[in-house]
Amino acid sequence: MSLNYRAAVLHQSGMPLAIERVSAAPLGPTDVIVKIRAAGLCHTDLEVMSGSLRYPLPMILGHEAAGIVEEVGSAVGDIRTGDHVILSWNPHCGHCFYCDRDLPILCETYLGEGPKGVHFDGQSKASLSSGEHLAHLMFLGAFAEYCVVPAQQAIVVPRDIPFDRACLIGCGVMTGVGAALNVADIGYGDTVLVIGCGAVGLAAVQGAVMAGAGAIIAADLDDAKLALAARLGATATVNATRDDPVEAVRAATKGRGADIVLEAAGQPAAFRCTAEAVRPGGQIIWLGKIDVANDVSFRWGSLMSEKRIRRSSYGGARPARDFPLLAQAYLDGRLKLDELISGRIALDDINRGFDDLRAGKAIRTVIQF
Ligand SMILES: NC(=O)c1ccc[n+]([C@@H]2O[C@H](COP(=O)([O-])OP(=O)(O)OC[C@H]3O[C@@H](n4cnc5c(N)ncnc54)[C@H](O)[C@@H]3O)[C@@H](O)[C@H]2O)c1
Ligand SMILES: [Zn+2]
Ligand SMILES: [Zn+2]
Repeated sequence: MSLNYRAAVLHQSGMPLAIERVSAAPLGPTDVIVKIRAAGLCHTDLEVMSGSLRYPLPMILGHEAAGIVEEVGSAVGDIRTGDHVILSWNPHCGHCFYCDRDLPILCETYLGEGPKGVHFDGQSKASLSSGEHLAHLMFLGAFAEYCVVPAQQAIVVPRDIPFDRACLIGCGVMTGVGAALNVADIGYGDTVLVIGCGAVGLAAVQGAVMAGAGAIIAADLDDAKLALAARLGATATVNATRDDPVEAVRAATKGRGADIVLEAAGQPAAFRCTAEAVRPGGQIIWLGKIDVANDVSFRWGSLMSEKRIRRSSYGGARPARDFPLLAQAYLDGRLKLDELISGRIALDDINRGFDDLRAGKAIRTVIQF
């Protein structure tokens, strides 16, 4: 008998998600079934709902999740039923041009299959009661009671970390902390500007602390988020509706600009600000995104002077290495996750959760199953 479970399905962009009963495809030899225990609502899900990120529909959204391994395929060796896992959205083949160059985020199969909304083996792993195959967001589709994934996407973590906190590591926290620890080259005592203090930016602030930054200036449009940034390690905050982050950074650096700017706002004004605020020779890491068909304009002079700009997906994540480390950092008190959860809801309330995210009210709303 096939596994039957409830999932949040997007049928049409601009429409709310529908909670529906879906059926899982038969378990493949290298797949595992994960019983989802918690899933975070990320801005990327919202972009699919609004249509600015275009995928085949109907689709199960959700790509930031943690749960318990319910069943393993016949060829799965290193994961057992009952293991606690965080799901990774970057499956990779391990032997293509980019995997060989240590860039699994550019894996040719990953980039080729991702836009189709299928799993890494090119298949859909769930269907509606009508028999129609469902697409999966980012090789997961985790707003569901269960999620079938290749074993490589289920990363075993210590059992002590609660699921609602663990799930955040799967996307927002990995991206923000990873941008600071894996992507940027932050030197001890450096001045770091973080633009945008949602879950990704607040994780970037914490990553900058871990990397040994001296001054961490956090910018956002919301005073409550800035207060939280200060609790999590920002040494100064700027509300960009009142003050100019570029001026604040220059004032703190004898006019030079920040050594590193980490962007996590996903707005053209924020992208422009990164280039104005970084010092000559400094590094800019863009994490946010806008509709891929849109332009962003820059003052040309702001891009000159040996500045290094990199756009990163997933903060240089190597999930098998990084998820257990981040989970342990939480357990040791070095990574704060409780503070990132602004609400806990049931799957049935998912649309209300996205309303809050859209309105800028939430940091991370977590669905608990
Ligand atoms: N690169 C990746 O792998 C990756 C992963 C997850 C999310 N993202 C992207 O990162 C961005 C942040 O994600 P999130 O979930 O934290 O989103 P979020 O909406 O919770 O946070 C964005 C924050 O930026 C602030 N902001 C908006 N415009 C600003 C401006 N001009 N100056 C300063 N602050 C501004 C908002 O007030 C908000 O607090 C989004 O664009 C999202 O799509 C990227
Ligand atoms: Zn995400
Ligand atoms: Zn590859």
